[in-house]
Amino acid sequence: MEPVIPDLRRLPRREAYRTLEEMQRLLLAGSDDVIAAMATTSALVHHAFGHLWTGFYRVVDANRLLRVGPYQGTLGCLDIAFGRGVCGTAAAERRVVIVPDVHAFPGHIACDGRARSEIVLPVVDASGALLAVFDVDSEHVGAFDDEDADGLTRLMAWFARDGRPAA
Ligand code: SME
Repeated sequence: MEPVIPDLRRLPRREAYRTLEEMQRLLLAGSDDVIAAMATTSALVHHAFGHLWTGFYRVVDANRLLRVGPYQGTLGCLDIAFGRGVCGTAAAERRVVIVPDVHAFPGHIACDGRARSEIVLPVVDASGALLAVFDVDSEHVGAFDDEDADGLTRLMAWFARDGRPAA
């Protein structure tokens, strides 16, 4: 039986992410399956912090189109063009985008009207190609900061391994 995902909201953020990194490493040991890794990573982050929506938008047409991948939460929009919304901006500019208040972000795409803040990170593979973006939405304003960017970046590093199954 797989372990239950712990609620890490009471831990200092840095420690919480270290716990998730270790769980991700253990759960994905021996696997090189990207979809399995996306699903597992989404579940870990989503349930550890009780977010509104947590998941991946995959690059299905390079520099043009993202399509929803494994996620947890309420329904996500299916397709997002590069350059559109927070996800499309992170993909087009290949950078972490933190939006403390989605109402103040022109072009924010509201898949769930309860979303108030958001963080999106680029996800690259071992060759450096953009594979996806990772999107986390919160019901709270200002839920994400640089500690989240650092912690989530470490979780996304799984996708840039050299292709061999993780030890
Ligand atoms: N808010 C995102 C769209 C994806 S969902 O929120 C799940 C954006 O503006 O790109």
